[in-house]
Amino acid sequence: MRAIVLVGGEGTRLRPLTLRTPKQLVPVLNRPLLDHLLLQLKRHGIASITLAMTRRSEAVREAFGDGERLGLDLEYAYEETPLGSGGAIASIAAGWRERFLVCNGDIVTDLDVTAFVEAHQARGAELSIALHEVEDPSAFGVVALDGAERITRFVEKPKREDAPSRWINAGFWLFEPSLVAEMDGTSFNRVEDGLFPRLAGGGRGIFGFRHHGYWMDVGNPEAYRRVNLDLLGGACAAGLPDPWATGGIVTEGAEVAPGARVSPPALLGTGTRLDAGATIEGPAVAGARCTLHEGAKVSSSVLWDDVTVGAGARVLDTVVASGARIEAGAHVEGAVIGHYATVAAGVYVHRGTRVEPDTVYTGE
Ligand code: GTP
Repeated sequence: MRAIVLVGGEGTRLRPLTLRTPKQLVPVLNRPLLDHLLLQLKRHGIASITLAMTRRSEAVREAFGDGERLGLDLEYAYEETPLGSGGAIASIAAGWRERFLVCNGDIVTDLDVTAFVEAHQARGAELSIALHEVEDPSAFGVVALDGAERITRFVEKPKREDAPSRWINAGFWLFEPSLVAEMDGTSFNRVEDGLFPRLAGGGRGIFGFRHHGYWMDVGNPEAYRRVNLDLLGGACAAGLPDPWATGGIVTEGAEVAPGARVSPPALLGTGTRLDAGATIEGPAVAGARCTLHEGAKVSSSVLWDDVTVGAGARVLDTVVASGARIEAGAHVEGAVIGHYATVAAGVYVHRGTRVEPDTVYTGE
């Protein structure tokens, strides 16, 4: 079965991280976010995948090429202007004669894709939507289901009190090829606003498939930090190397000085250095070539490559993009620090702060 993965979005909510790195390439356990989704498809025998791109996602093609690194056969389809999910699917799948899978490209999940396909087949569905249950569905597409799991309503981003259930669109859809003739591949349109509610309201064969395992939509910085920490904790298969099972700490060639401390679960990239008296308190991830000076402490955080944490600085519940510097004695909590930004020495960075790339944050 072929799949289409949508990767042409702006990634606005994940700014400032996506100002320099497209969403699909933000590192999750030191490998591109999209690796995790593509490997999940591969585990279920789906190897022929078309990435639905816009020009701004070109870096995705540079990173993944023909897919050989992952043992996949990747193709790329470009929209001159973004066509939305509906336009992208209709333009790519025009002429396809077999059932196909579509995925949002920012999902990390252990969805049983094989069982999803089997349920679709058994029900004779035209369209199936994988569903995940969340506490607050108001930011998602929410469904009402009948006793046979047919979707009777699809409501995009309802007010919390108006949501028909807590089961949301998990961004994995199975399409029968006959549906493509009903779609528009020439102008911007979203299946979540058009096709899905129309099929549901029209009594058509649109079914839900409840996924009870792990699922994360990596839409905003908090979800991004969370997915890293969840995967470190073993929430779903994440391709961590072998020593993980025993120690809960993986140092891919990091140097941890005597007197420095790393508590699990933690992943440290190649060339990362902890000076004596520095601490990484898991769950935490550091990319390649990071430096933690004496007395620096990083916990529940994700550091990308080439990050420096100065002597005595504290980094808690934070994401720090590549090349950024947290100077000595600074205290950063619940923040997102953009590429090559600097947090000045001794400054306190409050929860919710977003520091733009290349800027110096002095707290004033
Ligand atoms: P926000 O700007 O923060 O909403 O993020 P986003 O642009 O990624 O949008 P959203 O999370 O709704 O997108 C879900 C998936 O669809 C992501 O993997 C996007 O890359 C992708 N996507 C969104 N819009 C388009 C589009 O117009 N064309 C294509 N090809 N992909 C899209």
